[in-house]
Amino acid sequence: MEEIIFKPQIIEYDSCSEFIAATQFKVDDLIFTSQSVYENFLKNYEFESKIIFQRQYGSGEPNDEMVSKIMAEVRKGDYKRIIAIGGGTVLDIAKILSVTDDRSLDELYEQIDTVKCQRTLLAVPTTCGTGSEVTNIAVVNRLRLGTKMGLVSPEMFPAQAILVPELLNGLPKYVFATSSIDALVHATESAVSPKATEFTRLFSYAAIRKIINGFQRIVAEGEQVMPSLMKDFLIASTFAGLAFGTAGCGPVHAMSYPFGGTYHVAHGESNFVIFTGVLKHYVEKDNSGAVVDLNHLLSELLNCPIEDVYIALDSLLDQILPKQSMKEYGVQEVELSEFAKNVIQEQQRLLGNSFYPLDEAQVLKIYQSIY
Ligand SMILES: [Fe+2]
Repeated sequence: MEEIIFKPQIIEYDSCSEFIAATQFKVDDLIFTSQSVYENFLKNYEFESKIIFQRQYGSGEPNDEMVSKIMAEVRKGDYKRIIAIGGGTVLDIAKILSVTDDRSLDELYEQIDTVKCQRTLLAVPTTCGTGSEVTNIAVVNRLRLGTKMGLVSPEMFPAQAILVPELLNGLPKYVFATSSIDALVHATESAVSPKATEFTRLFSYAAIRKIINGFQRIVAEGEQVMPSLMKDFLIASTFAGLAFGTAGCGPVHAMSYPFGGTYHVAHGESNFVIFTGVLKHYVEKDNSGAVVDLNHLLSELLNCPIEDVYIALDSLLDQILPKQSMKEYGVQEVELSEFAKNVIQEQQRLLGNSFYPLDEAQVLKIYQSIY
């Protein structure tokens, strides 16, 4: 059994200037980032590398049209390294750019076993959620298929994950909230996955501890404490990435994809809507093993009886990001069965990591419970 995969080298720099001095941007590097990262952190440095911004090619989370345009841009140059500085969208797209050859995105999905790393990837996160810097998956909204799907290959691992807490300064509260809740979902789903090991659980539990303790401090002390917690949240999201990189994410992600893809709900936010609905279903079906271990940890951290952990968790998270039901996003009840069908058809990779095997009827029941 694969215990844990440590692929990228993980490096931390205290400041952006230290990161830039050590990385030495070169003429054959492609820097892929956002306008705001450039304005806030890079524009005062001189470098000859080509720099492109994600928003030049489309807005929001990655979709196949946007990614295809950026792939065409990358084919025009002879780049040796991709230096991706950004949130999950930027890092996920950069993984596809690192393996881009002359094939289309659809062909990469169909022929994933034959993709090869073409350019060295340096992944520098500017949010504290995806853990994308240490994983080999890129999630793209495939508009034609109407859902988000992961593209996964061992060739897509970044060579280096570079953590620079300074880059999280000024992160908008909403982005902080959705990304850190996403990291909590990664840590939780990987903790109860059948592929979890003692090694991955070490990282899952450490991430859960850091994130919940951080949220509790924000609630108790106010938002002014947030800057001092950014390093902890960044490390926690990387911990969670290391855990789910081996143990996988599960049904929360699977069920969030058709909903988030159709209603353009940000990844972390759509996961949040589904999150405890899935955990409650596990307890109902099989209250044993990894779920009980998880709930003991939550009970200790949230200082509540074990049977109240999801109430206490929802109440804490609600103070970080007010939760809405699917109905409040405009979802019609008749769509739930379409979503459930889509999950069974398109998300078997994630459903395979479910703590309790879910069929279409159970997926529908979970959707109905949070509708
Ligand atoms: Fe996620």
